[in-house]
Amino acid sequence: MRTFLACSPALVLIQAATAQVATRYYVDDSLPNHTIFRPEDLGAFDSIPVVVWGNGACSADPVGGHGPFLEELAAWGILVIASGTPGGQGSTTAQTMKEAIDWAVKNAGQGNWANINGSSIAAAGMSCGGIEAYGQNEDDRISAFGIFNSGTLDASKTDATLAAIKTPIFFFLGGQSDIAYENGMRDYKAVPEGLPSWVGNLNVGHGGTYQEPRGGLFGKAGQHYFRWVLRGEQAASSYFLDGGAEADGWATQSKDLDKV
Ligand SMILES: *[C@@H]1O[C@H](CO)[C@@H](O)[C@H](O)[C@H]1NC(C)=O
Ligand SMILES: *[C@@H]1O[C@H](CO)[C@@H](O)[C@H](O)[C@H]1NC(C)=O
Repeated sequence: MRTFLACSPALVLIQAATAQVATRYYVDDSLPNHTIFRPEDLGAFDSIPVVVWGNGACSADPVGGHGPFLEELAAWGILVIASGTPGGQGSTTAQTMKEAIDWAVKNAGQGNWANINGSSIAAAGMSCGGIEAYGQNEDDRISAFGIFNSGTLDASKTDATLAAIKTPIFFFLGGQSDIAYENGMRDYKAVPEGLPSWVGNLNVGHGGTYQEPRGGLFGKAGQHYFRWVLRGEQAASSYFLDGGAEADGWATQSKDLDKV
């Protein structure tokens, strides 16, 4: 569990709906093959969107691979449902991610999950996990896609994979030394006309910054993306519209961001 409340009391009041909060992660009995990362107090947010997450290498351990990054998303009022369990062995599939979506749609708005918005779900993942997210491309329950250090593996399937997507899709890549660079850039170019899309490259290579405190700059970019596109937080949009990402060192391109 981590707490970040370094702002002045006045600022906390102003930002009550969006300031970072304490988080925790655990395996819920109702979803034994996944890990939930959540704000400790779900009542701290009027509406909490969902990110279903696939890990690098399609690993079954979201904490070992991306723990600080996923906690950072949760700290901004996002419910993350990651494939696998803390310290989990073996691998996951796109089906594992689909089970997370099914669970979110079934439980959102009920009981303890009253503040969860089951109509606002992003499919996202890193490297092999990005391919798991693409596996949801025909699922109309998905409101956005996040492709992290990833891209379609088979160029002959790129156009068909992207053509099925109907919602915003952002790419977070590690620069030319990222093994997924060519694939991710090819996918960005194949995004259907009119869909909001963005690609950022930070020159850190394939591994990103997920294990740095707060998930480093991938955590910062990720939380801004999901807050903006899933919850409509205009304050988060400036990271993409007004030079925030570039100031942090991301080399960016974008299309149709006015349509978010
Ligand atoms: C969890 O994963 C195991 C091993 O892959 C599988 O046998 C089991 O059916 C899964 N449980 C659920 C509830 O999906
Ligand atoms: C839930 O998400 C949908 C889709 O983004 C949005 O239209 C709706 O206003 C959200 N509901 C709440 C209570 O925020």
